[in-house]
Amino acid sequence: MAAKLPKDVRKTIRFILDGEIVELRNCDPTRTVLQYLREDLQRVGTKEGCAEGDCGACTVVIGELVSVPDGLQLRAINSCIQFLPTLDGKVLFTIESLAAESGELHPVQQAMVECHGSQCGFCTPGFVMSLFALYKSAAHPDRREIDNALAGNLCRCTGYRPIVDAARKMYDYHSTENKDKSSWLSVPGSTVLDELSVTEAQQVDKLRSIAATGTLHLEFDGKQYYAPDSIEELAALLRQNPDACILSGGTDIGLWVTKQHRHLASVIYTGNIQSFKQISVSASHLTIGAGAPISDVMPMLSQYFPELDELFLRFASPPIRNAGTLGGNIANASPIGDSMPVLIVLGAELLLRSGDNNRVIALDDFYLDYQKTALARGEFVQEVRIPLPATDATVRTYKLSKRFDQDISAVCAAFSVAFNENIVTNVRIAYGGMAAIPKRAVKCELALLGKQWDDAGILEAVSALDRDFAPLTDMRASDGYRRNAAANLLRRFYIDSKQGETLTNVYHYGR
Ligand SMILES: Cc1cc2nc3c(=O)[nH]c(=O)nc-3n(C[C@H](O)[C@H](O)[C@H](O)COP(=O)(O)OP(=O)(O)OC[C@H]3O[C@@H](n4cnc5c(N)ncnc54)[C@H](O)[C@@H]3O)c2cc1C
Ligand code: FES
Ligand code: FES
Repeated sequence: MAAKLPKDVRKTIRFILDGEIVELRNCDPTRTVLQYLREDLQRVGTKEGCAEGDCGACTVVIGELVSVPDGLQLRAINSCIQFLPTLDGKVLFTIESLAAESGELHPVQQAMVECHGSQCGFCTPGFVMSLFALYKSAAHPDRREIDNALAGNLCRCTGYRPIVDAARKMYDYHSTENKDKSSWLSVPGSTVLDELSVTEAQQVDKLRSIAATGTLHLEFDGKQYYAPDSIEELAALLRQNPDACILSGGTDIGLWVTKQHRHLASVIYTGNIQSFKQISVSASHLTIGAGAPISDVMPMLSQYFPELDELFLRFASPPIRNAGTLGGNIANASPIGDSMPVLIVLGAELLLRSGDNNRVIALDDFYLDYQKTALARGEFVQEVRIPLPATDATVRTYKLSKRFDQDISAVCAAFSVAFNENIVTNVRIAYGGMAAIPKRAVKCELALLGKQWDDAGILEAVSALDRDFAPLTDMRASDGYRRNAAANLLRRFYIDSKQGETLTNVYHYGR
């Protein structure tokens, strides 16, 4: 049943493509941007490889107005799992958008040609769009930044060196675009335009004219899609429609549709709610809006918990992190989600909301069983509150997966231990991939608390850890591997803590 809506509800989506405002009425809420581009517009430059966010062949760039600082923010995303109505109020750049009308190639394309960055060409549009996002955000990226920007793009025939060469060379070409630097923009830690051409500046004006304000409501073939612009409206819509699917970044939900062919009868999209993405810091806490994309969360976490840098750099790829949110990661309740073990050991809490009612719950108490959380019907995660680090605690997190980049964990471990004269005074340990939910290793913690932080203590803790979990065998790892890996990560943490090493010491991008 359709929910009761405010009077100023909108029934069309508007976005900008090639400088023109596109207006769509009656579009299918779960049609992907990729399907729309290839099947409706015959813009077939954007390719479909995997249809699950893994290969990057479908990469496009979207631009969005941001208020702090005032400007346009560009992000590469995977169009294969992004639903079409989420383009509302944004500008879309595809591979066809880059060359000038005269046919002159964009510097990224020119560099790919001259560095022989393409063989069969299937992956090339995706690489070019990821490089376009990099080109617009970094003036002189180093190898690590280049590798990171390309972590979500797979090429099976060219090899990566010529593409990396192109990433370096693209800055050598002077685009003939008339630059207008009055609109320089900068948002720390994410992909933003550093410089706007006149046409891009005009797009900003057009974007202002199609700002996604008010509530959007689409109906198509029995499917309902709502996109409120305030948390209050989100709460009201969910109250009326408690079985609706909350859609944030869609990096999990997109696959329900493209891979599992699930029919989503009612969807409430949170991406138009600016206050849902806010991140703030108080004397005691970092507070992260549930709708904040992982790419925005990373620099803030990095500032307060630099030990977590590698974990979040290895969280999927930039296009997934640009769309996927922290709230979505937590609420999806996957036993192998990466943010949860560390947030549990840091003592994070969630602000949950239902209608006008709020409650706070420790993340530790949020997971009840496999993909089952403490969320009541119609309730949602509004904020994640993370206590700022205690000065005496040593925190580390380790992710084990088959590939370094763009892979889901087989085991993910997080540790926070405080000592007084080598006696453990406080300890929290949590693992992902070891149980049906992300879970603390309570027996292991008890074995360590109050004991010497030494070889004998760790030996006892390892044996207690074995009693904490009964992991499964699945396609990522066997139960035996998981048990061994969990124990070895505890040993590794012990050695690192003794040597005062940080995880970044073992981080070797660009070998
Ligand atoms: C190629 C690929 C690689 C990935 N790699 C990783 C990885 O390395 N590590 C990792 O942890 N994850 C990974 N993921 C999973 C996914 O990207 C993350 O879980 C992401 O954080 C989900 O956020 P989202 O906003 O996209 O969630 P969505 O897909 O929008 O939603 C996920 C679930 O959460 C619910 N939900 C969303 N927001 C809220 C809210 N505020 N309140 C209540 N419920 C809500 C939705 O209803 C849905 O059930 C990967 C996914 C893909 C496709
Ligand atoms: S088609 Fe592979 S990431 Fe989209
Ligand atoms: S050029 Fe063929 S897959 Fe990359």
